[in-house]
Order: sequence, then structure tokens, then C-alpha cells
Amino acid sequence: MVVLPVASPDGQYDIQIEPGLLRELPRRQAEFGLTTPSVLAANTVVGGLYGSHLANAMASITLVTFPEGEAYKNLQTVAQLYPEFVRAGLDRSGTVIALGGGVTGDMTGFAAATYMRGVRLVQIPTTLLSMVDSSVGGKVGVDLPEGKNLVGAFKQPAVVLIDPSVLETLPEREIRCGMAELIKHGLIAHPDLLERALRLHTPPNWLNDHSLNPRAYFDGLAKLIPDAIQVKIDIVQADPYEHGIRAYLNLGHTFGHAIEQVSGYIWPHGEAVGAGLMAAALLSRRLGLCDDAVVQITRDALRAVSLPERIPGLDPDSVFAAMATDKKWREGRPRFVLLRGIGEPEIVEGVSRQDVLAVLTSLCDG
Ligand SMILES: NC(=O)c1ccc[n+]([C@@H]2O[C@H](COP(=O)([O-])OP(=O)(O)OC[C@H]3O[C@@H](n4cnc5c(N)ncnc54)[C@H](O)[C@@H]3O)[C@@H](O)[C@H]2O)c1
Ligand SMILES: [Zn+2]
Repeated sequence: MVVLPVASPDGQYDIQIEPGLLRELPRRQAEFGLTTPSVLAANTVVGGLYGSHLANAMASITLVTFPEGEAYKNLQTVAQLYPEFVRAGLDRSGTVIALGGGVTGDMTGFAAATYMRGVRLVQIPTTLLSMVDSSVGGKVGVDLPEGKNLVGAFKQPAVVLIDPSVLETLPEREIRCGMAELIKHGLIAHPDLLERALRLHTPPNWLNDHSLNPRAYFDGLAKLIPDAIQVKIDIVQADPYEHGIRAYLNLGHTFGHAIEQVSGYIWPHGEAVGAGLMAAALLSRRLGLCDDAVVQITRDALRAVSLPERIPGLDPDSVFAAMATDKKWREGRPRFVLLRGIGEPEIVEGVSRQDVLAVLTSLCDG
């Protein structure tokens, strides 16, 4: 078992990583403080795969489910969760257990932060993205029709429980999307993580050829998770409320969010972030911050994982216009997280429209 401690403004919590942990949970209920009436919250997919079995095996735990997808990460779903919490007998001494990907963690985490002015939250992330990124750092929230994550709170978990073996049921495309955030963490702070991800994914490997050994692939993947999480831990410990360096975690995301939006959300988040990382590397080189090596390393990592590095068919002007609506663009001034080198992110303000458009145009065509 790997235990990663996290210091947060609300005290310390642990991230426990152990293959098979989910199976062990009923036996270890007391250890994780789950003996008072508690709610296990999951979407119907993850509820069916893991939630029902767990809830049946644990006294005092009620399974509460909601439909799958980002479209349900909203206040309407939260409004339906609260009365379910009441019916389950959840009071101030109980716990909300968020079992699922980032959508579940963000939304049920928000419900936990607000129900009875806050009850205990245990995060059990089941996607690669939620393991290495969204379950750590305490940001919870929901979307509005006007934009993503516009309503939210900080709610630190009491503990984060990670069972990497659940990744074996995750669709390949979702693994790729999680790899985009893992590559992002490598580019921000951990060159070695990039090399190991690249080795894991360079063919022959399971993700590209199912006839090969999935066991070796998932064992290799599980070994990357603690290091990828540690990058996020180091940043959120230094800047829990995003006054400064927490913004590094947005590397590739200014471009990525705009790509998602202009594609009408046909591009999933991780794929858009992949192309966004490429755009950030190209912009960094164009502005003379870094050399060709950074661009090449970024490209190699994305290719190894079969993430897109280009955005054919998207109009550069539309992508630029969408970026300007990003809430992270301070007072309408272009603001990017760029790279001076691998492991050397930097926040750069006042980048010209012309430079951004040149990068976007090079990614859209030839
Ligand atoms: N709070 C943060 O700091 C933070 C950081 C990054 C992203 N996010 C948020 O995370 C969300 C994206 O999270 P995600 O990529 O995990 O998506 P997701 O939660 O939608 O999960 C992706 C899909 O995988 C399925 N799934 C989950 N676990 C599974 C398993 N083990 N086996 C089979 N299927 C499984 C889900 O049903 C879903 O269809 C976005 O809403 C984003 O805004 C939050
Ligand atoms: Zn992201």
C-alpha cells in the first residue's frame, strides 16, 4: 500500500493507494469512519459495476445513484441528492462517499460541502483522471448552462481511497483522457513521469493491441499513479486556494477548454487538453521561452498515448474567441501557463492575439 499525506487548510488527510482496496472496504469500514449512516454516491454505471455490491456488503451504507455524464453535473441533480441523503438517515456524523470519476467527485463533493453545512467526504476515484487530478485538492462544484464549474466550494476529503484495479473496466478512451492530465503533471514538474508513461505506451502495449498482456499494462499504469498525484499534492499544498502556482495545473487548459467548447463538447476534456498541451508548447517556443526539445517531448508523449496533437476542422478565430470567455483570463487579458522547460512552468500575461492565432492556425491546418 502507498500512503500519500496531504496538508490542507482543514488539516491533514491521506491518499491511500492499494490494488484490491475496494474489495477490502467492508472489512475496513471502521478504519475509514464509515460505521454511522452514510451515503455511497455513484452514477448508474459505476453503481452497477461496484456500488451495489459494496452497499450490500456494508451495514449503514445506502447507495444513491444518478444518471451518467457531465450533463448531469448540475444543481438539478444536487437538488435530487439532498432528499435522498435525508431518507438515508445521513446526519452531521455521517459521510458522503463519492464513488466514480471527476463528475461524481465534484458534484457529490459539492453536495457534501453544503448538506447540513458540510458532512464528511470520502473520495473513491474510479477513473485515471479523477485518481491523478480531481479527487485531490478539495475543489468541488457543478456546471451552469452558462459555463462549466461556475458554482463550487472547497471541500477537503477526510481520506481518498484509490484502487487502481478498477481501471480495468474503464473504457480505453477514458484511460487516454486521464493520461492527458498525467502528461500535464509530467510537463509541469516530473520529466521522469513522462519517460515512464512513454515507455508504458510505446507499442507493443495493451492499449494499442488487446492481444498483448493487459496485466503488465495495468501494473505499469498503477505504478505511475502515486508520482502523478504527488505533483498535484505539492502544488495544492503550496497554494490551496489558487492565488498563484496552483494555476500551473491549468497548463494546456486555456486552449483545451476553448477546443471543447468550439467542438460543441464532441471533443472530450482529456483529448482537448492533449491538443492544448501541444498548443502551449508551441506558444512557449514561439515566444522564445523554450527550445524545440520541449515541443518534441510533448509531441512524443501525446503520440505514444494516441492523444490528438492537432485540431483539424476547428476554426482558429472561433477557438481564440472561446478562449477570451475563459474565467481564468484575468480581466480579459490573455494569460497562459507556458513552459520554459520540462518541469519549469511559468504564468505569462499579455500574449498577443497574433501569436496565439499563429499557433492555432498551425494546429488547424498544414
Ligand atoms: N475538482 C477538480 O480539481 C477537477 C480537476 C479535473 C477535472 N475535474 C472534473 O472532472 C470531470 C471529468 O472527470 P472524469 O474524466 O473522471 O469523467 P467522468 O466522471 O464523466 O467519468 C468518465 C466515464 O467513466 C465511467 N467510469 C468511471 N469509472 C469507471 C470504471 N472504473 N469502470 C468503467 N467505467 C467507469 C463513468 O461512468 C463515465 O462515463 C469534469 O467534470 C471536470 O470538470 C475536476
Ligand atoms: Zn483537466
